[in-house]
Amino acid sequence: MTAEIIDGKAFAAKVREKVAGHVDRLKDEHGITPGLAVVLVGEDPASQVYVRSKGKQTVEVGMNSYEHKLEADTSEEDLLALIDQLNNDKDVHGILVQLPLPDHLDSDLVINSIDPAKDVDGFHISNVGLLGTGQKSMVPCTPLGCLMMLREHHGSLSGMDAVVVGRSNIVGKPMAQLLLGDSCTVTIAHSRTKDLPEVVRRADIVVAAVGRPEMVPGDWIKEGATVIDVGINRVERDGKNKLVGDADYESCAARAGAITPVPGGVGPMTIACLLANTVTACCRANG
Ligand code: GUN
Repeated sequence: MTAEIIDGKAFAAKVREKVAGHVDRLKDEHGITPGLAVVLVGEDPASQVYVRSKGKQTVEVGMNSYEHKLEADTSEEDLLALIDQLNNDKDVHGILVQLPLPDHLDSDLVINSIDPAKDVDGFHISNVGLLGTGQKSMVPCTPLGCLMMLREHHGSLSGMDAVVVGRSNIVGKPMAQLLLGDSCTVTIAHSRTKDLPEVVRRADIVVAAVGRPEMVPGDWIKEGATVIDVGINRVERDGKNKLVGDADYESCAARAGAITPVPGGVGPMTIACLLANTVTACCRANG
């Protein structure tokens, strides 16, 4: 079988178009422009690229973008003071603190200081609890983008066997919650899982989110399964710098029914969902 390619880039463009339409209506009918504040502490090169891309796309859909770039040695007190200021700024509807933070900062404390209603990443403990109990919450962007692509491809996911490889708070755990919410039978696998290949072979849906280049080979994939590859890993190949996912694309595509490419799969959907979450936060804040 040769897999159908799930085009995240094209899907993300459609989501952004829809978001831009919402933004226009909010401006025309209510005089409100949604605003997203992104906070970057330090100079991690990958984080700088993501933050630049988020800011650019925020402006492209007609929203206000507020970028706060802080020195790597910023104190926790100063960072918390900035978040407090953003929490109280009525022009800011969404707040995102780019992770990872430098080691001297307590990420949990920082994330939990964001007003949950403005937590467009869905990482605040209140949003985690709301998602886990099936209540209305802010949903983390990467898993939300994965779910949207799966729904678009399959229609209903009800009754499907889903295996999420990776147990991070950012992707693995919320992804599992969302799949459960869509009535999948969900397994979260990780580095200590016994007989990982056999566990993955049971899956109708495989979400690879381990952060290890090409860790999932094609012979772990059930014929016709759908592979969602969350990984973005930079590797040296034949003297060239290349982006690869957590799944080995060639061998997985040979067995899967559908697969997301890297780049051009999950990545673009993550930012599109961040923009959608910001509009959602803005609408909720304004009744
Ligand atoms: N670092 C890597 N992914 C993310 C994300 O989705 N949100 C934030 N805030 N930081 C990240």
